[in-house]
Amino acid sequence: GHYDTGGYEHYLLKEISEQPDTVGRTLRGRIDDRFHIAHLGGLNMDARESRSFRRVKIIGCGSAYYSGQIGAQLIEELARIPADAEPASEFRYRSPVVEADTLYIAISQSGETYDTLAAVQELKRKGGRVLGIVNTVGSAIARECDGGVYLHAGPEVSVASTKAFTSTSAAFALLALHLGRVRDLSPADGRRICDGLRRLPEQIKEMLTQEEHIRELAMRYAKDAAGMMFVGRVRGYPVAREGAQKLKEISYVHAEAYPASELKHGPLALIGPEMPTVAIVPDDELLDKNLTTLGEIRARSGRILMVGHRTADQADDCIVVPKNETELDPILLTIPLQLFAYHAAVALGRDVDKPRNLAKSVTVE
Ligand code: G6P
Repeated sequence: GHYDTGGYEHYLLKEISEQPDTVGRTLRGRIDDRFHIAHLGGLNMDARESRSFRRVKIIGCGSAYYSGQIGAQLIEELARIPADAEPASEFRYRSPVVEADTLYIAISQSGETYDTLAAVQELKRKGGRVLGIVNTVGSAIARECDGGVYLHAGPEVSVASTKAFTSTSAAFALLALHLGRVRDLSPADGRRICDGLRRLPEQIKEMLTQEEHIRELAMRYAKDAAGMMFVGRVRGYPVAREGAQKLKEISYVHAEAYPASELKHGPLALIGPEMPTVAIVPDDELLDKNLTTLGEIRARSGRILMVGHRTADQADDCIVVPKNETELDPILLTIPLQLFAYHAAVALGRDVDKPRNLAKSVTVE
């Protein structure tokens, strides 16, 4: 079909701006405020089976993989099932052990990414139980999976993924809520997550009103940078990875993402005035540790743009993001990094919607 940019200069900005609505569509009809559970009919899985898994393995490529990392943390935190994410390509090439009591989850916006599809097929061949979190209804990966969650985010046209990323993260929150509530997650915590999810669309809208401030920061930090460092701890780390990925993909500015705790084990040597840092610093139990890291960066004359829930003296500039429940914060923290990459790319005159060397959907090996 034909889609237009709806008055926006680029599809990317349109898709970033749509997120209050697209996240709302992912959540619609799936939150039960009476029992504080999630309704996910497409899983094709009863409560007994939902309780049976002892491990969760998430696979995907690119931004889908990073959203899978957010998903793994949500599942481990809310459902207390050991969970991790891995690039689908790596998973498929290393001849993984496929276990009957592991729940496999494939992530894909297009549903056509070859590496992810091949990994799902290999899993099925070996008897793995595979769910898909997919945007495109009826796509190859969706058809191959035993069940799953559709995002309902609408077509994503721009090569760099934005709305699919936030919708995938929201879908993971629903899945984690579901897996948690048939296990040990209390009704009170279930309610906390339901209420937090309901607040998300409005908070995304609020976040988007800071676009002009973020545009100005992109000009000052990214436009002339030799490279940028993105750091975060635990919940902030996949956000940092996605932020670095967005900047690389569309602006061609070199960016590295590191766990903030790993800086001192190598990349701190890169820090100086020509290598600014974007630090993801949510108000969680790691706040003080993160602020100490910012102090270490500052001591090496590194400029710091902090993305979090407050301002801090250790940072040169701050983007203050609306606070939600701690587990759900990564979703909102991602939005300013999308706008940051977008405005860096525009300022550098890049082909924002069709970056060089990349394809929206990689359907070959
Ligand atoms: C390509 C795109 C990325 C995307 C990845 C996975 O590499 O350039 O933006 O994240 O594929 O795509 P999928 O459709 O499987 O989510």
